[in-house]
Amino acid sequence: MFLLSSRRKMASRQMCCISFGLLMLITLASGAAPRKPVDVPFGRNYVPSWAFDHIKYFNGGSEIQLYLDKYTGTGFQSKGSYLFGHFSMHVKMVAGDSAGTVTAFYLSSQNSEHDEIDFEFLGNRSGQPYILQTNVYTGGKGDREQRIYLWFDPTQNYHTYSILWNLYQIVFLVDDVPIRVFKNSKELGVKFPFNQPMKLYSSLWNADDWATRGGLEKTDWSKAPFVASYKGFHIDGCEASVQAKFCDTQGKRWWDQKEFQDLDSYQWNRLRWVRNKYTIYNYCNDRTRYPAAPPECKRDGDI
Ligand SMILES: *[C@@H]1O[C@H](CO)[C@@H](O)[C@H](O)[C@H]1NC(C)=O
Repeated sequence: MFLLSSRRKMASRQMCCISFGLLMLITLASGAAPRKPVDVPFGRNYVPSWAFDHIKYFNGGSEIQLYLDKYTGTGFQSKGSYLFGHFSMHVKMVAGDSAGTVTAFYLSSQNSEHDEIDFEFLGNRSGQPYILQTNVYTGGKGDREQRIYLWFDPTQNYHTYSILWNLYQIVFLVDDVPIRVFKNSKELGVKFPFNQPMKLYSSLWNADDWATRGGLEKTDWSKAPFVASYKGFHIDGCEASVQAKFCDTQGKRWWDQKEFQDLDSYQWNRLRWVRNKYTIYNYCNDRTRYPAAPPECKRDGDI
């Protein structure tokens, strides 16, 4: 039931001129937390990918809603492709009876040696908890699911979901709390995404064959349409062009600095808290599936 790759996958740039003073202030105030996202309208960084009429726009596109009904879901994707950076979205998940629905936010490469970094929010019957599933594909290999419950109801308010990706690590953050770290373990023979730009994608679709209680709970179409709301649309990445696959600023951006190469002790504590209190499933600990722990699990980063 964790082999979920059959899901429907679909899913810039910016960074204006923050003054040096402000930059120093942010750096000092937040330690190693990624730079605070800058909210921009949808159209700055993203375009719809499919079922355009199932996306609604508000406040000049600074807020959008995705609709899922029995005919179709919908999705959008970034205009640009990126090699490393910090990407975030404020999302309010489908409220009420959302069983069978999945809302996803992810980065994905377009090549056959597939790289992918996934957030997937699995809906539930009214009053029952969502599951946040994450996964990482590198060089075509996935099967690295982790699942957690959230410490809040994700349908009541906007919360921020973000990914920090540099040469050293991939960090999944929920409201600035790291919920997962995938360290670059290339010395252990594990591939790490470093040479294929990725686009960002988001989508809302029906996955009642697996999403809720392993597919036991079906989508109740009498409750349609199902609606997920988005704001933020922050992208601060190294944009790759068709001419240049690599970015000439590589190694020189804020996310390459020392303080973003590992979590700090405060962040490690937060991650431990998530692992102890909210984790439902971790492929690293699944001895039925992996009689020997996968190599990247042997370091502290991904346990
Ligand atoms: C849905 O609720 C049930 C019952 O509380 C729970 O076992 C399950 O983990 C929840 N989430 C999903 C996505 O199935």
